[in-house]
Amino acid sequence: MARSQSRAESAIQRITSLHSSSRGHLHFLPLDLSDLTTIKPAVERFLARESRLDWLNHNAAISMPDPKTKSPQGHDLSYATNVLGPYLLTKLLLPTLNETARKLPDEGKGMVRVSWAGSAVIEALSQSGGLAFDSTGTPKDYWWNIYTGTKTANLFLCREFARRTDAVLHNCYNPGNLKSNLLHNLRAQVGEWMLRPLDWFVLYPGVMGAYTELWAGLSPELGMGDQGCYIVPWGRKVGEGHLRNDLVQNIGEGRGSEKLWDWCERETGRFT
Ligand SMILES: NC(=O)c1ccc[n+]([C@@H]2O[C@H](COP(=O)([O-])OP(=O)(O)OC[C@H]3O[C@@H](n4cnc5c(N)ncnc54)[C@H](OP(=O)(O)O)[C@@H]3O)[C@@H](O)[C@H]2O)c1
Repeated sequence: MARSQSRAESAIQRITSLHSSSRGHLHFLPLDLSDLTTIKPAVERFLARESRLDWLNHNAAISMPDPKTKSPQGHDLSYATNVLGPYLLTKLLLPTLNETARKLPDEGKGMVRVSWAGSAVIEALSQSGGLAFDSTGTPKDYWWNIYTGTKTANLFLCREFARRTDAVLHNCYNPGNLKSNLLHNLRAQVGEWMLRPLDWFVLYPGVMGAYTELWAGLSPELGMGDQGCYIVPWGRKVGEGHLRNDLVQNIGEGRGSEKLWDWCERETGRFT
């Protein structure tokens, strides 16, 4: 699922030509995560073709758009794209994921998964407790740190779905610091040259991000006992002690993660 047909189709063409003997099939399904009206139609198109789903990977995200730009439903564009869209997509696909998981033999338990892209910024830059909310229950971040808030929200949603699901394995992964298009808004704002040292010394080739994602989605080392686990580059599960204590303490019933869930429910309810 992607929002740009031409980019998706050129990626499909490249993958197909690299693996011409594969029996797999790739199809483009239009979905704009920032627009809640597009999520249910995308799910319906998917379900018209498929009756099972083994892995839902929330990879898409944006960072630092113009803060004045809102989603079609009037939400902050980063929260719409990185949090509300993926939340609604997961809710609508959960029955199919559950059904797929239930049909698996015992040795396949834990192989039906939902993976959420987190980031090193969760631990490095998130506010105390990870997320804070205003009096209406809406997440609030300093404008320069909204991306971090959305990535923390991805970890929190992973944990909330994990708490409420028994057949599907949810996990959250930091794909690593990678050369990609993610910082294009920041590059435009501060100047390409300001970020050159990042390119030289901090960022890895983009393809390496796929190692961690694929491990999260496909590794047979993970089972239902790893529900809600956190994964770091380049495909390694870490224990709870890896995450900051104030984040861990804000996850669970009656805490920040549940407040986030309630907000997502409220904002997406009329699009289900
Ligand atoms: N790069 C890093 O260093 C890094 C570090 C930690 C975590 N991450 C996470 O890794 C994931 C992948 O990031 P990346 O570095 O590959 O960034 P990227 O190159 O900017 O790719 C982001 C992808 O999201 C898609 N997307 C954006 N808005 C969308 C929308 N409204 N609907 C549907 N798709 C949309 C983009 O599609 P278009 O092609 O149509 O724009 C693009 O395919 C993100 O979740 C990011 O937070 C990245």
